[in-house]
Amino acid sequence: MGNSPGTPNTSPTPRPPPRRPAVPPPLDRQESRGGGYAHRIRRARPDDYDNLIGIVDNWWGRAAVHNLPRMFLDHFHRTSLLACDDAGISGFLVGFGSPSDPYTAHIHFVAVRPDARKSGLGRTLYEAFFTIARSDNRTRVTAITSPTNYTSIDFHRSLGFTVTGPIPNYNGPGRSLITFTRPV
Ligand SMILES: CC(C)(COP(=O)(O)OP(=O)(O)OC[C@H]1O[C@@H](n2cnc3c(N)ncnc32)[C@H](O)[C@@H]1OP(=O)(O)O)[C@@H](O)C(=O)NCCC(=O)NCCS
Repeated sequence: MGNSPGTPNTSPTPRPPPRRPAVPPPLDRQESRGGGYAHRIRRARPDDYDNLIGIVDNWWGRAAVHNLPRMFLDHFHRTSLLACDDAGISGFLVGFGSPSDPYTAHIHFVAVRPDARKSGLGRTLYEAFFTIARSDNRTRVTAITSPTNYTSIDFHRSLGFTVTGPIPNYNGPGRSLITFTRPV
C-alpha cells in the first residue's frame, strides 16, 4: 500500500551508510628523525614495488623476496607506507585491513634501511599504520615473525605487542612462528 497523494510520508528516512573517505588523509607531511636524517612518510603506490623488491634481501640480510609478491603493493598500497630521506627509500611497511575480520589490521612486512635503524623510524612507521587502522575502525593490529628473528620480537615487545609462541606448525609442518597482537 503506497501513500495517497498529499499524505505526508511518515516512514523513517533511511540513513545513509557511514561515510568512509575514498582517499584517506594524506601522510605526506609526516616527518620523523632517524639516523640524523629527516624521513618523509607517505602511502605506498603500486609502482613502488619495483624499487622495494630490489632492496629487501639486502636489508634483511637473507633471501626475503618470496615474502613480498607484487600483489601486496597492487592491492594493499592504500594501507602500506614508504619512508624516504635524502639517500632514498629509508623504510617501508606493508599492511592491510583484514577483509574477513573487521576489527583486525595486519602488518605483513616491515623493514628499515640498515643505516637508519634504532632511531625510531620503525616505531614511526608502525604508529602511522595504527593511525590508518583506527581511521578504518580497526581495534587490533597483528603481525607474525620467525622464532629466530630476535630483533623483530624485541621491536614488537617495545611497541606494546603481546608476544605469543613459538606456535608449532603455525604455517604448516615444521614452520613454527611467533605471533604479535596489540590493541589500537
Ligand atoms: C625490526 C626493524 C624494522 C626495527 O626498525 P628500527 O627503526 O630499528 O626500530 P626503532 O628504532 O623504531 O625501535 C623501536 C623499538 O624497538 C627496539 N629495537 C629496535 N631494534 C632492536 C634491536 N636490534 N634489538 C633490541 N631492540 C630493538 C628499540 O629499542 C625501540 O624501543 P624503544 O623505543 O623502547 O627504545 C629493523 O630492525 C629491520 O628492518 N630489521 C630487518 C627486517 C625485519 O626483521 N623486520 C621485522 C620482521 S616482522
